[in-house]
Amino acid sequence: MDTVRYRCLVGAVFTSAALMIVGAVALAGHRVDRGPAKITVKTPGSTKKPPVTFDHAMHQDRVRSGATCKTCHHNPEARRDCLSCHGKPANEKTPELKDALHKRCKGCHKKIATEKPNAPTSCDGCHKK
Ligand code: HEC
Ligand code: HEC
Ligand code: HEC
Ligand code: HEC
Repeated sequence: MDTVRYRCLVGAVFTSAALMIVGAVALAGHRVDRGPAKITVKTPGSTKKPPVTFDHAMHQDRVRSGATCKTCHHNPEARRDCLSCHGKPANEKTPELKDALHKRCKGCHKKIATEKPNAPTSCDGCHKK
């Protein structure tokens, strides 16, 4: 009886130690740069609409927003600044920043409007003064 219990205990200690190592390796391997928690996007030089501030961290939380990194950062290149590719002048292939972001951001919000009324679809909901 006693030896069995002893073996179980040793087994448990080894298992939890192994799990801790696996956990630590997994954490280290997944340390991606998540960028700022809050982000303000602004078309340089534009005065038509106030810039848009949104909760990047909340949007990264798939459970809450339904988005993965790729939903917005569609391009696998390391460069993640949308403006670096979607700056003016746009060409027929690459939409300008406003159109790219309206399509991506507003597009999702409109689609989920009934289940997620907190996802703004009105101009002022995103372009807050
Ligand atoms: C809802 C859309 C959206 C989602 C989802 C999203 N991001 Fe972002 N992210 C943005 C926008 C917009 C910017 C600002 C880019 C810019 O400055 O033009 C940004 C900026 C960043 C930056 C800073 C880039 C820079 O050059 O300043 C990093 C890093 C980043 N995101 C990582 C991630 C990772 C990792 C995930 C997934 C866990 C993620 N993002 C999910 C929209 C998103
Ligand atoms: C490295 C360059 C690059 C970066 C960075 C980039 N894009 Fe794009 N994007 C493109 C190109 C090129 C196209 C047109 C070809 C295509 O559809 O892939 C495009 C097309 C799009 C489109 C229209 C096609 C579609 O997928 O619906 C949207 C919307 C878009 N980008 C949003 C974004 C957003 C939002 C960001 C920043 C989070 C971003 N892009 C960052 C290069 C880039
Ligand atoms: C895949 C779907 C999806 C995409 C893409 C998306 N959103 Fe959202 N967004 C949501 C959801 C869902 C909520 C509401 C979450 C809640 O109810 O708590 C939200 C809430 C918001 C809010 C209000 C809360 C806050 O963040 O301050 C703003 C502003 C916003 N989104 C801006 C944006 C912008 C800007 C983009 C594009 C860069 C974007 N969203 C792209 C799903 C999305
Ligand atoms: C889901 C969020 C969202 C909604 C809703 C939205 N926008 Fe935007 N819009 C953005 C983002 C993000 C940008 C790019 C950053 C910027 O320049 O403000 C942008 C850019 C713009 C720009 C170009 C920048 C400028 O100031 O010239 C105009 C104009 C604009 N939006 C008008 C509108 C109008 C009009 C509506 C309502 C019909 C609207 N937007 C609704 C997110 C949104």
